[in-house]
Amino acid sequence: MEENKKTLYSAVQPTNNLTIGNYIGAITNFVQLQEEYNCVYAIANMHAITVRQNPAELRQRTLALLALYIACGVDPEKCILYLQSHVPCHAELAWVLNTFTYVGEMERMTQFKDKSARHADNINMGLMDYPVLMAADILLYQADYVPVGEDQRQHLEITRDIATRFNNAYSPTFTVPQGIFRKVGAKINDLQEPTKKMSKSGENPNGAIFLSDDKDTIMRKFKRAITDSDGEIRYDPVSKPGVSNLLSIYSVFSGKSIDEAVLEFQGKGYGEFKLAVGETVASKLMPIQAEQAKLLANKDYLNQVLISGAQRANAIARKTLSKVYKKIGFYQV
Ligand code: TYM
Repeated sequence: MEENKKTLYSAVQPTNNLTIGNYIGAITNFVQLQEEYNCVYAIANMHAITVRQNPAELRQRTLALLALYIACGVDPEKCILYLQSHVPCHAELAWVLNTFTYVGEMERMTQFKDKSARHADNINMGLMDYPVLMAADILLYQADYVPVGEDQRQHLEITRDIATRFNNAYSPTFTVPQGIFRKVGAKINDLQEPTKKMSKSGENPNGAIFLSDDKDTIMRKFKRAITDSDGEIRYDPVSKPGVSNLLSIYSVFSGKSIDEAVLEFQGKGYGEFKLAVGETVASKLMPIQAEQAKLLANKDYLNQVLISGAQRANAIARKTLSKVYKKIGFYQV
């Protein structure tokens, strides 16, 4: 890690198929910010098991996510790229932080409430404790910044609260991190229900564009995207959520601003607009998919990335944990 650079931390769960929401809200930022910061990016498989996973699938998705990170442009030479379960300090610090977190705080978390409703037969302790593990992830690396989508804002706030509480109880130990949210695309919405977040686990598969979708599927889903009846292409998320969501997607994938995009489609019909969005997204995703497949065929290389990532991550994490153990009075030899 370079001394003069600030540290950036983020993670993605290897659950279901990733959507363009994950890509826009998180991964594009990971790539953009890797030059400027010391970056640490994890595959959050410990978070993933808070919802029941098929073991073989989880293993396969872990490598697929690693390959995807790299295919999208995350450079394992520049960043620390690792698997969360390869660094035992995460579970260890989470345990300590549990004693600095109140049950009431966790019960109020929006995502906990949502997931409890969706998985009513499995409201396990891990699901409730999820934000504390996330706090441990971030605080172990003394991250200054955390690039995430809008849906993680509350988890980041609780991380800041826990860090401040610990620092105040002892002495400054953790860097209190700040979130980095995209101006455009921090919350990409479902194509069928454009006031709801596009999610990996949404009920309607036509509502989400998965990063693994082929071109025909992408085009079909965009063609069917819900818009409105006034026929005008302008950015107004409140009264025109569908069109505005498509404009956000187009803006990020084309590299144009929202204003430029609006100008480009002035006077054009929704049909033409949706086709252009689909084409733009597909032309970006196709090469990423090809690169991901190539990487997945080279398991030795991927394993090597994980081994090197775990070594580097462990060294940093262990240092922070040792500091924490000292402060709280754990006898160390
Ligand atoms: P996860 O795996 O659900 O999502 C990964 C990232 O994608 C963002 N995201 C979106 N952004 C814009 N629009 C959307 N529709 C959309 N859907 C998802 C998420 O905000 C996230 O940034 N708890 C995290 C993983 C995690 C983590 C961490 C993140 C574990 N430890 C430490 C940061 C720091 C999660 O479930 O992300």
